[in-house]
Amino acid sequence: MNRGHFITLEGGEGTGKSTLLEALRDKLESTGRSVVVTREPGGTELAETIRNLVLHPPEDQVWSSMAEALLMNAARTDHLEKKIRPALSSGSWVLCDRFADSTRVYQSVQNGVSVEVLKMLERSVLGDTSPDLTLVLDAPVEQAAHRRAERGGLADAFELRDKAFHEAVRQAFVDVARGDPDRCVLLDASRSAKEVSAQAWKAIENRLLAAKQGATS
Ligand SMILES: Nc1ncnc2c1ncn2[C@@H]1O[C@H](COP(=O)(O)OP(=O)(O)OP(=O)(O)O)[C@@H](O)[C@H]1O
Ligand SMILES: [Mg+2]
Repeated sequence: MNRGHFITLEGGEGTGKSTLLEALRDKLESTGRSVVVTREPGGTELAETIRNLVLHPPEDQVWSSMAEALLMNAARTDHLEKKIRPALSSGSWVLCDRFADSTRVYQSVQNGVSVEVLKMLERSVLGDTSPDLTLVLDAPVEQAAHRRAERGGLADAFELRDKAFHEAVRQAFVDVARGDPDRCVLLDASRSAKEVSAQAWKAIENRLLAAKQGATS
């Protein structure tokens, strides 16, 4: 059995990750592929418990960046062991809404945890299970905030931060994508949902499907 493909979607709040994920799921399933859709923090029962602790701490309580980094990695370990690796081994495509790059970004911006410590944790937790492709959605902060406001719902601990924080997050995601061009593709998420999904599908075709055909021919 061939290992499946592991795709992660990254970017700031409201850039359209979850919307794109559903479009890609539909497209992959309509072409007969088995798809497992999941998210971080979360994806397993224990990891979802951690998600709730991190995103919705008790009122007036704030986690330090180091505590967040450790909690995110604890959740990720469980998620990889129980869901992501088994799905890839069974040949499924795994689409994950946020993954390790979000920890690199959110837990390091504005004087958070050092990049060295975050990379060390990431290496230990991921082992050899890195994403085959990471789609990084980039859109102006005001536009993303407007989309979130239109969507409604309760804001979490990260969404409530100020504009400078969201600008720093946006820049940090762009830096992640530029720093790892073999794995990452930066998408212009200011475009319509249809156009963003076309950009993403092109990346999947070029980087995963074309490579696979080449390998088997
Ligand atoms: N390309 C787009 N153009 C216009 N609206 C969009 C686009 N993509 C998503 N939206 C809308 O913007 C809102 C936010 O999108 P979505 O929930 O997919 O973002 P997200 O990145 O998953 O956000 P979060 O980080 O909060 O989970 C939704 O109402 C969605 O319908
Ligand atoms: Mg989402």
